[in-house]
Amino acid sequence: YAKENESSGFLPFNELAIQQASGLRLAEGFKYKTLCAFGDPLHAGMKAYDPKSLSGEEQKKRFGAACDFIHVFEQSDDKAILCFNNEFPELGGHPDRAEREQAAYHSVGVSIAAIKRDGRDEWKIDFLSQLNRRVTPSSKALITGPAAGHERMKSKASPDGIRTAGTLGNCAGGYTPWGTYLTAEENVQQYFSGEIKGHKEEENFKRFGMNDNGNFFARLDPRFDLNSGYQSALHFGMVVEIDPLEPNEPIKKHSMLGRCRHECAKVRVNKEGYIEVYTSDDQGFEYIYKFISAEKYKEGDRQHNKTLLEAGVLHVAKFAEDGKMAWLPMIFGEGKLTKEHGFNSQADVQIDSRKAADLLGATPMDRPEDIDIDPKTGNIFFFMTGNRARSRDKLNSANPIEMGAGHIIELNDQGTQGKWNFFVICGKFSGDPVNSTFTQETSLSGCFVYPDNGAFDRDGELWVCSDGYSFPGFTDGLWHCEKKDDRVISRRFATPPKAAEFTGPYFLKNSKELFLSVQHPATNPSGSFPDFNHLKARSAVVVISRD
Ligand code: FEO
Ligand code: CA
Ligand code: CA
Repeated sequence: YAKENESSGFLPFNELAIQQASGLRLAEGFKYKTLCAFGDPLHAGMKAYDPKSLSGEEQKKRFGAACDFIHVFEQSDDKAILCFNNEFPELGGHPDRAEREQAAYHSVGVSIAAIKRDGRDEWKIDFLSQLNRRVTPSSKALITGPAAGHERMKSKASPDGIRTAGTLGNCAGGYTPWGTYLTAEENVQQYFSGEIKGHKEEENFKRFGMNDNGNFFARLDPRFDLNSGYQSALHFGMVVEIDPLEPNEPIKKHSMLGRCRHECAKVRVNKEGYIEVYTSDDQGFEYIYKFISAEKYKEGDRQHNKTLLEAGVLHVAKFAEDGKMAWLPMIFGEGKLTKEHGFNSQADVQIDSRKAADLLGATPMDRPEDIDIDPKTGNIFFFMTGNRARSRDKLNSANPIEMGAGHIIELNDQGTQGKWNFFVICGKFSGDPVNSTFTQETSLSGCFVYPDNGAFDRDGELWVCSDGYSFPGFTDGLWHCEKKDDRVISRRFATPPKAAEFTGPYFLKNSKELFLSVQHPATNPSGSFPDFNHLKARSAVVVISRD
């Protein structure tokens, strides 16, 4: 379907029925090609993926696992640099357990590869590029901003509290106008293990959900053992900046953007020329933040621009009843962010952003995830994935549904304040859009819950993918959304392989190709995504276009 007199690379299409199977389903007339999958080689001369030979050393030279956020730095119509997040480990099949775990350890982080069109107009990995690489939990990193070098950041693994290593839990992200990639560290708590009772960081670790029951990382690397003195848990939960053109530069972990279960980092240059970064904290009753840089963006001055996320002011969102909202500045010494409340420096405010936001009276949200900027209106779209723990006594103006199944807030942001409304409220999924603001025309296949990732295409159309595979009776997908008065018509465009969710949609500038991640597909005895041979299922990045 299409809006009247309007067509784009992906509109019109006939809505897809739910149709979940071991493969990826698309609306009629569209096709996909797998570009790369977990364990595929990044460099020339390497063997094809073979789970049995996937050692730790091998995995460092291969695409990472659990594909999530994607950004494509388009250099021309047929050359680009692909960057995508590898959110959590996937297991290969090496017969030796230690090697299997080393491989899984290095399957997390970010994958970067040059891509080019081949003679058949298909995107392929440019295996000869010097830019192809992995960023993993052991890559060289620097802490920047107020927390850099602070006493709380020092450990046996990082005596200066500045030079550190690694990124993990890389969920959604963003990119900057100066051509760097941003990756947000989300579920970092599951990699750390140790007794937190009586620990000097007990309060902070507890709020993150850290305990003595973390995954295997603590066995492999003392940095993940909270009691080893090597612990660097405060170095994680950051927004991380990576320059895809500088493979030898350490990645930068920007404490100025706060520390939480960061989900994404969407950047814009504001009217005055300062950089604003929107980011969210994906945990029930946590917050939405905005950073505003201290210095202005300078077109063409890459070295200057690469310092912009190191100084400025972090703000947190407070939504009011009347459709207004305010961004509350998080400045040490102002309001309650003082010694009496446990803050001794700006570093403390950044490290304990959640506690600072509580004290300022920010609005606790329903698991805020992706954030997207409407290219036509400049409005900011905030995706609340939903919050089963939202009880009647905890409702607020911006999160008004008990046990919410997700909603999207649209904000006209005017700097330190803004005006907002609901773009859509997702329904309890019971066969019809009960309690939702989908239109009557929206079909059962078209209704969605748990909006997680989204993207505006090049015609300014909004697309949404869900993370609702745990939601009873619901099947994940990718939908096109169209606003109609106060409601939304949503139509299903794609259904992921069984047990998978779609993540990281990226529409190419030509409006004709969509890069999409397929995360955590299930293995099927008769053949699994994306290989459909003897191999177990694995996460992958696909390119979708009209057939
Ligand atoms: Fe990794 Fe919040 O999804
Ligand atoms: Ca997500
Ligand atoms: Ca997700």
